[in-house]
Amino acid sequence: MTAQGGAVAGADDRAVLDAPQGRVVLPTTSQRGRGPLRAWDAADELALQHLAEVGAGAAGSRVLVVGDRAGGLAIPLALAGAEVASLSDSWLAHRALAANLAANGLPEDLVTAVPRTAPVGGGALERPVDVLVVKVPRTAAELQAVLCHLRPLLRPGAVVVGAGMTRHVHASTVAAFAAAVGPTSTTRARKKARLLLADVDPGLDPGPPPPPATYRLPSGQEVISPAGVFAAGRLDAGTALLLAHLPTPAPGSDVVDLGCGDGVVGLALATAEPTIRLTCTDVAYTAVEAARATLARNLPDRQDRFLVGDAADPLEDGSADLVVVNPPSHDEHVEGDQTAWAMLSGARRVLRVGGALVVVAHRDLGHHARLSRLFGGHRTLGSDRRFVVLQADKRPRRAPGGTPA
Ligand SMILES: C[S@@+](CC[C@H](N)C(=O)[O-])C[C@H]1O[C@@H](n2cnc3c(N)ncnc32)[C@H](O)[C@@H]1O
Repeated sequence: MTAQGGAVAGADDRAVLDAPQGRVVLPTTSQRGRGPLRAWDAADELALQHLAEVGAGAAGSRVLVVGDRAGGLAIPLALAGAEVASLSDSWLAHRALAANLAANGLPEDLVTAVPRTAPVGGGALERPVDVLVVKVPRTAAELQAVLCHLRPLLRPGAVVVGAGMTRHVHASTVAAFAAAVGPTSTTRARKKARLLLADVDPGLDPGPPPPPATYRLPSGQEVISPAGVFAAGRLDAGTALLLAHLPTPAPGSDVVDLGCGDGVVGLALATAEPTIRLTCTDVAYTAVEAARATLARNLPDRQDRFLVGDAADPLEDGSADLVVVNPPSHDEHVEGDQTAWAMLSGARRVLRVGGALVVVAHRDLGHHARLSRLFGGHRTLGSDRRFVVLQADKRPRRAPGGTPA
């Protein structure tokens, strides 16, 4: 199969990836608005080059890519005839994959999108793979969890490649591949990217992934906080300030933990007022599952909603009385202003008139101004040297004559 020539021919040059497997156009990135300029990076190019050189990922082979930003790995490999699945923790990365497949005139099911939380042994993770390509994640703990999770899928002789920018590849990265897969070497850096090449040691059994990290709140409640979620395994200082100033929700009200991470904020809200109807939502599959586990561990009889998606998009207009958010300050090493704006403006949309948005953020991120613009004002609930907790109330919009619209 080839990408439709028209789509590539008409594309912005910055969106065209000339891979040895084929030429593809990747106009959509995994970010909202401002993000990396391109949907792929030099590590993706290096990995594709290496796979072509060693003849891996040829037609008919089974390939699993992990952490692909927006199809830059998966689409060229699928184009070359491999059966490709793309495992990601980001709902936005999967949306970008679908958009980029469409931009090449390719069917959406040409690459199987698999959430990071999918169990091995079923669906797209049922049969052994010939090639595993892993984009190096932010932490060694996350890499270890991913590799131990996927190890049962590696058949002897499988080609295993790690790909990352040199600043993300450390001795601990090599150690994680060696411990879970087998002897591992690194390539020389090219365009500030490097590969890790691991030989599958059939005698090596790394065992199951380590259990998710947990931490205890002063209340004694336990938070399930696995590798890969925000501040994994500990209470973040900004979140702690938020918890100290969290308003108690009204009985029976609809409350949203937006960008829920491990669910610690949702847990505090449901503990303070058990009659609330709580929705926890996040762009990361692991976060949503962690929030579900945190609520279930501490308040097992509740029936809360857990949704994966972008910002407030999964939520209906005018459906919430209180939205609480600790917006991301960085997004894949890139400033996340656009994401924060999407969360704050989305929160306004989902609030009922009379409802409130509570935000915690670094003082210097300028959320005061954003809240004033969106809500016409805000007040400070608490602050410390680094963080501030703000509340903005949704008032009826004023019609030009001054009466509520
Ligand atoms: C600063 S963390 C806050 C986590 C948790 N609420 C806390 O306070 O500890 C921001 C969260 O927003 C999530 N996030 C980032 N981009 C998002 C997006 N576009 N839509 C929804 N959630 C997003 C991240 O996955 C992360 O869990």
